[in-house]
Amino acid sequence: MRAARSCAGRRRRHDFARSKSPLLSTLVLTTSRSLSLFTLAHLSDIHLSPMPRARRRDLLGKRVLGYVNWHRGRKLVHRRDILDVLTRDLVERQPDHIAVTGDLVNLGLPEEFLLAAEWLHHLGPPDRVTAIPGNHDAYVRLHPERGTGHWRPFMEANEAGEALIRTPPTAFPFVRRFGDVALVALSSAIPTMPFIAAGRLGSAQRGFLKLALEELSRAGLFRVVLIHHPPLPGQASWRRSLRDAKATMSILKETGAELVLHGHNHEQTVFEFDTVTGPAVVVGVPSASEAVSGRIPAARYNEYRIARLGDGWRCEMVGRAVVNSTAHVWECERRVLRES
Ligand SMILES: [Fe+2]
Ligand SMILES: [Fe+2]
Repeated sequence: MRAARSCAGRRRRHDFARSKSPLLSTLVLTTSRSLSLFTLAHLSDIHLSPMPRARRRDLLGKRVLGYVNWHRGRKLVHRRDILDVLTRDLVERQPDHIAVTGDLVNLGLPEEFLLAAEWLHHLGPPDRVTAIPGNHDAYVRLHPERGTGHWRPFMEANEAGEALIRTPPTAFPFVRRFGDVALVALSSAIPTMPFIAAGRLGSAQRGFLKLALEELSRAGLFRVVLIHHPPLPGQASWRRSLRDAKATMSILKETGAELVLHGHNHEQTVFEFDTVTGPAVVVGVPSASEAVSGRIPAARYNEYRIARLGDGWRCEMVGRAVVNSTAHVWECERRVLRES
């Protein structure tokens, strides 16, 4: 595994990767306007602030530690003003679709879910925004009606997706189709013990993931998998890892996926590995609200410009980040992930 830190984040080839493709090595600064483009923006780990006032009865178990943690430091890291600057830039650029990969809230307080639902509606209407939960959104066990149920319009298949893949009773994965592009949205969010931020898909969801990716491959679509936890073995410590990463990666290799987008690690990373349908690129994005002076990566979102290219695809990534000192958003990276 190769690692290199830069303002563009980390670029690594996964241990399992054996691709001879020149993907990721080529920087191309032009985009052909003649191609029919679908633009997908991806942001993650919102950790929405300010935290609503917590009642004493809400601060039981894991939430007590999280509450102390938040007021001791995390509230200085995840800043609402930084998030607002970043999302304003994103909304102004009018991408075709926006994907939010989890950790919208902090302690899983019922009021936090309501505020996050408001924030999602501000980002765009449910047919233009897809959300999935992260571990902070499953901080404690909560009835969906008091929790992620408020985000339901953003967490369900669209008609075109449902026509291809019926959403299982477990609600995940759900599929949204937009022309040539299909989003496969997973939930790795599970309640855990204090100090554990792990996730799991589970065998049922993995089974549906396999079926969905096979069906979408037959339909000839560009498949984008959305998951909160980094999906490859070794991408996170045991305490923070996707417990069934090995089995998940096996499915991705057996069925293929063009792009996998995740959050959780709060850093920009790019991996690639071979699958039966060609290379899969796995991209993690930093937290959209994180801004510690002098620290890289800054709050960032990525834009993916996806277009058919002959029998294959062209996919260009454009990174846009906040400069902390000026609250200004700049294009920090542009590179072609795929051109084949
Ligand atoms: Fe997070
Ligand atoms: Fe997370």
